[in-house]
Amino acid sequence: MNKNSLLSMHDLSTDNILHILDDASSFHVSHSDWQLPCSKALVANLFFEASTRTHYSFVSAELQLGCKVADIQTGTSSVTKGESLYDTVKTLESIGYDAIVIRHPQDAYYKELENINVPILNAGDGAGDHPTQCLLDLLTMQQEFHTLSNLNVLICGDISHSRVASSNKVALEEFGSTVKFSGPKEWQRPGYEMVDFDEALPQADVVMMLRIQKERGAALRQMSDEEYLQQYGLTKQRYERMKKTAIIMHPAPVNRGIEIDSDLVEAPKSRIFAQMANGVLVRKAVIKRAFGYEDFAEGTK
Ligand code: CP
Repeated sequence: MNKNSLLSMHDLSTDNILHILDDASSFHVSHSDWQLPCSKALVANLFFEASTRTHYSFVSAELQLGCKVADIQTGTSSVTKGESLYDTVKTLESIGYDAIVIRHPQDAYYKELENINVPILNAGDGAGDHPTQCLLDLLTMQQEFHTLSNLNVLICGDISHSRVASSNKVALEEFGSTVKFSGPKEWQRPGYEMVDFDEALPQADVVMMLRIQKERGAALRQMSDEEYLQQYGLTKQRYERMKKTAIIMHPAPVNRGIEIDSDLVEAPKSRIFAQMANGVLVRKAVIKRAFGYEDFAEGTK
């Protein structure tokens, strides 16, 4: 595996993370402020699951950095003829792609790709990891609180199917922050401290709401959207009980009126769209790192 791959938050030290966030902070969301100095930077995006934010913020970042971009159409690729993930990725490497961004429904799919030499950037693996989402979440928290230590982070909803929950737990605990979880008991995850939403809410610096991942088989006993919102979601009444300085986060897509009241998506405490913008900054930093340029001064401005 290429050492500049980004597969899991487990692979990054706190120093690595801070370095990536520093680099990300030096970029702008819609401005070609840094160009890869190498003439050959051909990137393939290989998405086996639906995506808007991750896919197209990777494309935005790639184009702004001067990469040449191929969006592989997985539905018309030879995957439909039974070709394995390994053979698909090895083929892309063999025909000249220099880095490959992959989203795949299988947890830790990248373990099959150890013999691939070009950098792999994990854009989400099943319920495993979503490292670039976690980095953009960390950047959003850092912008707000100027630290990633001693924060109280409350993650609510479909915990068992969420790669965002697992990636943030790993990273935030490394920084010395506290991460607690709430949601239906059907979606608890072994080793994750579950708390009562209403009791934990007033102490939380960050309230991160999660979508119900029906595509991963999440199902509850019969419950209407309104009942779910009232029992487990962020309602206007709960919003009023948040700390004055607390923020709302959500990896999105948001199911308005289910895990969060629709009016709160753009409320003053919400950073949901700021998170999306930060996704471009973080992905620029991660692509730059994939091509071996860790130091901002090494590129061309
Ligand atoms: N947050 C996130 O991963 O969104 P997409 O599924 O739209 O990429």
